[in-house]
Amino acid sequence: MLDKAKQRLQRLPVDAQQRVTFVQTDGENAEEALDGRRFAAVLCHGVLGYLEDPEPLINQICRCANRGGIVSIMAGNAKATAVQPALERRWEDALAAFDTRTGIGVLGLRGRADTVEEVSEILQSRGVEPVCWYGVWLFVDWLEFSGVELDPSDAKQVAATAAVELEASRRDPYRQLSRVFHLLGRKSPS
Ligand SMILES: C[S@@+](CC[C@H](N)C(=O)[O-])C[C@H]1O[C@@H](n2cnc3c(N)ncnc32)[C@H](O)[C@@H]1O
Repeated sequence: MLDKAKQRLQRLPVDAQQRVTFVQTDGENAEEALDGRRFAAVLCHGVLGYLEDPEPLINQICRCANRGGIVSIMAGNAKATAVQPALERRWEDALAAFDTRTGIGVLGLRGRADTVEEVSEILQSRGVEPVCWYGVWLFVDWLEFSGVELDPSDAKQVAATAAVELEASRRDPYRQLSRVFHLLGRKSPS
């Protein structure tokens, strides 16, 4: 992932490249690895699912945010774990998924899912107030898991799809069925 990020950074303008520093460490060690620096926004996307206990990492993310800063977390939605195996017609896995939090994700690895409520509670206990949450990837996931190939180079289709996804992402009941949720919180200003 870091190699990929480094490659993609090369495609950005030089001034953007100069603003980026890569630091490799466990997220649970972030504060020390960043010498206690604080940031206006701290993102943790697609990582919690690989950890048995998400709390130590969330704790560090919250510590690394400035007062009044944004904390952004994307994680697997534990309330919609049957969606992917069902659409892939893995029926036994789908049936089992209703009562489990782990499953094989898009990278082919076993991952764990979380709930918006539980992650919100941990954030709150660390002085970060949850502000809003979105469902991430709904119809595009359903299509792709069902075997439909979408064309990311078709800009017009992508824009039209994104408009629909955005609407679905912020309203119930659609967002509740998304495989992934995106939760945003703001650290207390005082
Ligand atoms: C699905 S990728 C997400 C990458 C990126 N955040 C994104 O949204 O595209 C999961 C990444 O989490 C990393 N990871 C797993 N456990 C971690 C931990 N304890 N601390 C930091 N990163 C971790 C993995 O090495 C992998 O690069």
